[in-house]
Amino acid sequence: KNPEAFSAELSAWFSDAARDLPWRSEPSLYRTVVSEFMLQQTQVTTMLPYFDRWMQNLPDFEALANASEETVVKLWEGLGYYTRARNLRKLAIQWVAAPIKPEGAAEWLNYPGVGPYTAAAIASIAQKDYAAVVDGNVVRILARLTNDTRDFPDSTSAVKAFTSTANQLIQTAESPGTHNEAMMELGATLCVRAKPQCLLCPVRDHCEGYKNGDPETLPKITRR
Ligand code: ADE
Repeated sequence: KNPEAFSAELSAWFSDAARDLPWRSEPSLYRTVVSEFMLQQTQVTTMLPYFDRWMQNLPDFEALANASEETVVKLWEGLGYYTRARNLRKLAIQWVAAPIKPEGAAEWLNYPGVGPYTAAAIASIAQKDYAAVVDGNVVRILARLTNDTRDFPDSTSAVKAFTSTANQLIQTAESPGTHNEAMMELGATLCVRAKPQCLLCPVRDHCEGYKNGDPETLPKITRR
């Protein structure tokens, strides 16, 4: 099947299956940035109460830029990996001071605590930049979709190997943010590592791994 249909069918599924999360029901650039920082090392269910408390205390970039490091770390308490909180404050200071604001993933990479994954997430969701998020979940989906049986030495090399495929695929999306979030959701709920739920998968018809009969064995990542 054609890739245009893939993204349309995946996104349609996501529109139904998507959890009602606070940065989706009331979206803004700031809320997207904060949620993506919290989600770097913390699961959605864990970070939700912290997200709400954070927004009550620090509702926008200006409030965060003007807050002390102590205040920010205190609001992060319980989430761990405090470097994220300090970087997020530095990001807000840099954002407020910037005469030209970032408008795409490449520009977000100049901000503290922002790597390729977070840059693509922020820019696609909040700014409609056609930048693909690529992590272990996305690698798994793409390896199965294309029935790619190559053996990778580690997840970093697998991410590198699938980055161009991921970026080609997102070009066909109507909304790059929805496409990326749908990929994350598919990898987290149905296209899981063990016992993937192919019978429930909205893009099964596109999946060469499914057709081939052994999607669960993909991707092959063998540490040597
Ligand atoms: N993990 C990282 N970013 C996410 C997002 N926007 N939605 C759900 N899970 C995520």
